[in-house]
Amino acid sequence: MTRGKFIAFEGGEGAGKSTQARMLAAALAERGSGCVVTREPGGTPGAEAIRALLLGTAGEGWHPRAEALLFAAARSDHVERLIVPALAAGKWVICDRFVDSSRAYQGGAGGLGDADVMALHQVGSQGLLPDLTLLIEVSTETAAARAHARDGGEADRIGGRDGAYHARVASAFAALNKAEPERFARIDGDADAALVHQAVLAALLLQ
Ligand code: TMP
Repeated sequence: MTRGKFIAFEGGEGAGKSTQARMLAAALAERGSGCVVTREPGGTPGAEAIRALLLGTAGEGWHPRAEALLFAAARSDHVERLIVPALAAGKWVICDRFVDSSRAYQGGAGGLGDADVMALHQVGSQGLLPDLTLLIEVSTETAAARAHARDGGEADRIGGRDGAYHARVASAFAALNKAEPERFARIDGDADAALVHQAVLAALLLQ
């Protein structure tokens, strides 16, 4: 059995990742490739429960180290119970966010640093990395408009952080892409969804 491909979509809030993940899954289904679409934090019952702890706005919130540990714990359950078995069964796994989000949000914007985030990832998920990470980049205006349309002004605990935090997230993603260009395809997400989808297919050599 050939191992499936593991593809992650990354980017800031309102980049259009979930839409693109769904469109890619439909394109793969048309081509007869089995695939699983999943998301982080979440994807398994345990990880979805951790998602509620991380993103809910009740209580005083988590300090950056606790936040990173919770993301790593959710990812560990997701990798062990869903991602690795699906890949081993020959399916593609399309994941809306993966460890590069922890590197950009907790490591970069949150100030924890990349080495600690990757150490947690090694413990939690044996350092598993996607075969390709599609980094969808949008202007601040597009991101704000899409996030508002989606959340109706009710952002979750992390999405609701200030503009300076989200600017640090965007530059951390750009720095990761620059440091590891072979792992990333950078996609302009400002265009309409159908055009972005064409760029996604081209990056995966599926056109
Ligand atoms: P989303 O489902 O809208 O993408 O929301 C998930 C939020 O969690 C988003 O604000 C990004 C954040 N996040 C992190 O801070 N670190 C992570 O490792 C992941 C997967 C998400």
